[in-house]
Amino acid sequence: MRTDVVRLGRLSGERSGEMMHFLSSMRADRCIADADILVDIAHVLMLDKQKINERETTRKLLPALLELHDDGIPDEAFHDRFEDVHAGIESLLIEALGVDAGGRMHMGRSRNDEVATCIRIKLRDDLLKQMAALLKVREVLVALSEKHADSIMPGFTHLQHAQPTTLAHHLLAYEQAFSRDFDRLRDAYARVNQSPLGAAAFASTGYPINREFTASLLGFDGLVTNTMDAVATRDFALEVLADLSILMTNISRLCEELIIWSTSFVKFVALDDAFCSTSSIMPQKKNPDTAEIMRAKTGSVFGAFSGALVTVKGLPMSYNRDLQELTPNIWRGMQDTKESLRLLIDMLASATFDTERMREEAGRGFSTATELADSLVRAYDIPFRTAHNIVGRAVRKGDLSLVTLEEAAQEVGEGVSLTGKGLTQQKIDEVLDPKYSIALRKAPGGPAPVAIKAAVAERKKQLDADSALIDQKLAKLAKAKEDLISRARRLVA
Ligand code: ARG
Repeated sequence: MRTDVVRLGRLSGERSGEMMHFLSSMRADRCIADADILVDIAHVLMLDKQKINERETTRKLLPALLELHDDGIPDEAFHDRFEDVHAGIESLLIEALGVDAGGRMHMGRSRNDEVATCIRIKLRDDLLKQMAALLKVREVLVALSEKHADSIMPGFTHLQHAQPTTLAHHLLAYEQAFSRDFDRLRDAYARVNQSPLGAAAFASTGYPINREFTASLLGFDGLVTNTMDAVATRDFALEVLADLSILMTNISRLCEELIIWSTSFVKFVALDDAFCSTSSIMPQKKNPDTAEIMRAKTGSVFGAFSGALVTVKGLPMSYNRDLQELTPNIWRGMQDTKESLRLLIDMLASATFDTERMREEAGRGFSTATELADSLVRAYDIPFRTAHNIVGRAVRKGDLSLVTLEEAAQEVGEGVSLTGKGLTQQKIDEVLDPKYSIALRKAPGGPAPVAIKAAVAERKKQLDADSALIDQKLAKLAKAKEDLISRARRLVA
């Protein structure tokens, strides 16, 4: 049975399986194990470059690490008797190479800077994947908007018919929100991709290490400079979880709408059967379960965020073992969000919107009353508040006919006679048509088809720019990794 090389000197006695299981971070460490090998390789290359280790030692360490990189890390490295994967891998190396070589890998560093580095490496990769999935959701929304630039639907405030709008306008509202979510993740990436390596336990080290060198080998954009901060902070993870929480609220709101829209009394959308379930007792049922689970996953992501927040709030400087408990929250939040985003792409793309039904509802609930009031203002120079008052009274009376409107105008009693000013039933009918009202709302960002076309063109440009940004970051990371591995291979060749 392999011993945990970290415990050997200071501590005595065997620990119970229960104790080891309780203290070990192994389950979550599966997520960072591949990153750990890269960190080990970069660190060994640095020790060699700085002549902290002899070339002979490097030539023993690197092949063993490259083997783990090429063939994968054996299961034994993940055994609970090691506190974590860092101890597991080091123990394996010492056993394979002997302590004279294997025991020289961990010089000038600590698991404290090591684990923080691994988390950042894994997290930045995940962030880019998350951003790519989010981009796809936005692409679907923009494509649907292009298709539905003229599809008239009711717009709501307080979930009451408010004013007519277009389906494109509604969908572009979500795209805009997701675009900000994208920007937030991009901004968080900049703070995630900083290297804590070289901080060691917290006070750095007396060896002549080269932090910039390991940072560049590992594709980081800079250093977390203060070494105490480097091991103590998890604010980069909190920030990501906050951003994911906000992103999930946007997903959840969209799901809520899809759920309402797919009810038989609204019927604006039919979700593809693949995203729905039926009932074990009611044979007619088609339930929007995927959207419901997504709405609920939002709560799970909030849970991960608050779990992480609460873990750090009382911690003194610098590293405390509590931080180990924070890490699984990161992966849980990332996983729930990733699954939701992936399914959302197809759920949206395969949904069928009933534009007939939407059109039918668009004029309900006096939804064009605002435009009628505005038209009275424009045509007859009546103060807006007076026009609002007249139309409101007419609605209370039950219709917007010329007769009722005139009656309302007399009651308002500001000497306004609409018929006297030349208002006709024909003019009223024209103004009350949802299409008329929408066409007028062509200011930037408005629902008019012409404004939608401009918005779609602008959003497409933004999508291209965001896609290029992801590609550029992916390419930089891929190149750093390739360079790191080939540098290691050259050194042992
Ligand atoms: N498993 C630990 C974690 O996830 C790694 C650092 C352990 N450091 C220590 N001083 N025990 O945080």
